[in-house]
Amino acid sequence: MELEGKRVALGVTGGIAAYKSAELVRLLVKQGASVRVAMTEAATHFVTPTTFQALSGNRVFTDQWDTSVANGMAHINFSREADVLLIAPASADFLAKLANGLADDLLSTLTLARDCPLLVAPAMNRQMWSKPATQRNIATLIGDAVGVLGPASGDQACGEVGEGRMLEPAEILEELIARFQPEVLKGRKLLLTAGPTFEAIDPVRGITNLSSGKMGFAIARAAREAGAEVTLICGPVALPTPRGVTRIDITSALEMHAEVTQRAAMYDVFVGVAAVADYRPRIVSEQKSKKDGNPPPIIELVWNPDILAEVAALPHPPLCVGFAAETGNLAEYAEKKRRKKKIPLIVGNLITDGFGGDTNTLVFFDDNGQQILKPAPKLVLARQLITRIATLLENLHAPMTP
Ligand code: C5P
Repeated sequence: MELEGKRVALGVTGGIAAYKSAELVRLLVKQGASVRVAMTEAATHFVTPTTFQALSGNRVFTDQWDTSVANGMAHINFSREADVLLIAPASADFLAKLANGLADDLLSTLTLARDCPLLVAPAMNRQMWSKPATQRNIATLIGDAVGVLGPASGDQACGEVGEGRMLEPAEILEELIARFQPEVLKGRKLLLTAGPTFEAIDPVRGITNLSSGKMGFAIARAAREAGAEVTLICGPVALPTPRGVTRIDITSALEMHAEVTQRAAMYDVFVGVAAVADYRPRIVSEQKSKKDGNPPPIIELVWNPDILAEVAALPHPPLCVGFAAETGNLAEYAEKKRRKKKIPLIVGNLITDGFGGDTNTLVFFDDNGQQILKPAPKLVLARQLITRIATLLENLHAPMTP
């Protein structure tokens, strides 16, 4: 459970996306959070307070003049008892109020009286979202350190298509979990490789592998959430760049090698997650080879440089972490690799468990032996790896000065 012991105050404003917030409460509770809900009057026309009460197990605040609230101070207590205040959906009208510090109903008063971080998940028609007034208000809120989640693009309840949809409940949950991560890599610089490489044979053919890049991208995201400055050097993958991460796309192992070696000495950590092709064709044909009645060509291969081993051999190397994807004998091969490449930590995974999927089973191998992690989504495992890296760093290295 990713939100065990966390207290979430949820504000629901008037919009059709309010029905999705009922699902959001369910997801938050499932992750161990305690949830208290306050609704604007308009929100109660879309979903009843009873729904939120049943899902959160707590009374729902709707009325500024409710005399049953102890000492009439709901606006003070609501955020004092919360680790975060999330407004989802946040209507255009409510965002305008927030940007201007208005407090003319219960939820706007609770929000102004908060002393915890505030997140908003805007939801509105695409025209409302694109208006200069709304964009001005969003810019003001960002300037006031309010976290803005989304909005997404897509079909809208009104039948139009465009930007302004509220993020899906599962996406809001992910964002929230991300913001609760401790900043264990604050001030650190982390470089990582991810995905496969593609070694050309001719202009249309090449040698590659089935690496999806998902584990590397999850690690990049987890490192960013932990406060690191992250540079991700990746082979051909169709994955969105995690927010706040600098991405450099390459194709071949030699290109990856060049991008890594020119930077590695300036980083605190290097994580080699990429499935780098061990070899490449010695000659890349300039023309597409033809079936012209001759026997099939014999492709001569040459070794690619071992990027990780080279970085680890620098005079002042960053903390180096490798990956070992194996089809069997994981402990033996992983430990052998760790010693050969002279790196403090190698992360093993059995390919049968997770190549291309969203979950994985990992094993850490370091000087203290091995630690088997429970099978979990790649992002959860990535966060565990970041925690381990932070501990190793504390013991080994002072932060890199920029
Ligand atoms: O030796 P092997 O390829 O199995 O080692 C895997 C580890 O080494 C991974 O961390 C991978 O990113 C890295 N590696 C590399 N350059 C290569 C081959 C592997 O950085 N040419």
